[in-house]
Amino acid sequence: MKIVLSLGGSVLLGGGFEEMAERIKEFAEAINRLSEKHSVFVVVGGGKIAREYINVARTVGADETYSDYIGIEVTRVNAMLLNFALKNSPKIIPEDFRAAYELSLTHPIVVMGGTFPGHTTDATAALLAEFVKADLLLNATSVNGVYSADPKKDENAKRFEKLSFEELTEIVAKGETKAGSSNVVDLLAAKIIQRSRIKTIIFLGTPENILKAVKGDVTNIGTIVEG
Ligand code: UTP
Repeated sequence: MKIVLSLGGSVLLGGGFEEMAERIKEFAEAINRLSEKHSVFVVVGGGKIAREYINVARTVGADETYSDYIGIEVTRVNAMLLNFALKNSPKIIPEDFRAAYELSLTHPIVVMGGTFPGHTTDATAALLAEFVKADLLLNATSVNGVYSADPKKDENAKRFEKLSFEELTEIVAKGETKAGSSNVVDLLAAKIIQRSRIKTIIFLGTPENILKAVKGDVTNIGTIVEG
């Protein structure tokens, strides 16, 4: 299979700087295993560090587009860290989808960060999946799937094990809640996934769960989105 893995910055770097190297190695090991059977693309997010940089940029007067470029650079630095821990990826971070595709012709794993302003790496990963005609989009995030409402605020919030493409867009478009709930992916990502009918799994991003999700097993860890 051809797989695009969206690895949220907060997932990869969540534990802080002390644990960072260990976490990167653990994720790299899972991705190496994935690449034994599949062609793998990884899109790395910016996490807390990107948000801190963006806040500083705004405070010194940067506009939103400029701030997005700062976020993109941070995602690329994170991608460089993961890249070096992997076995068979080129030591190049492609800056657009065509370059990523080209590298994938000769390498089993290609790692990249963001591309252009205006969205997050969720959408980058969905666009990449569309461009390379991926069989599966794995979205490793900090919650165990898509909920009907914010589970921290609404005790009746329901976690979905399965959603249609249309249902995902509908839930994300409501957008009344933030991280940890229905806005688990951004709206552009949901729309790209819907228009290209890309089978997607949104799941709690741990190295073990990546290997579980690829088998289509989302019990307690995530949501499958398909037609
Ligand atoms: P992220 O994808 O990390 O955003 O990109 P996030 O919402 O913080 O996601 P998590 O928490 O890591 O899962 C960081 C920032 O970089 C810019 C945006 O400003 C985004 O918020 N960015 C990223 C772009 O403008 N374009 C891209 O293709 C990627």
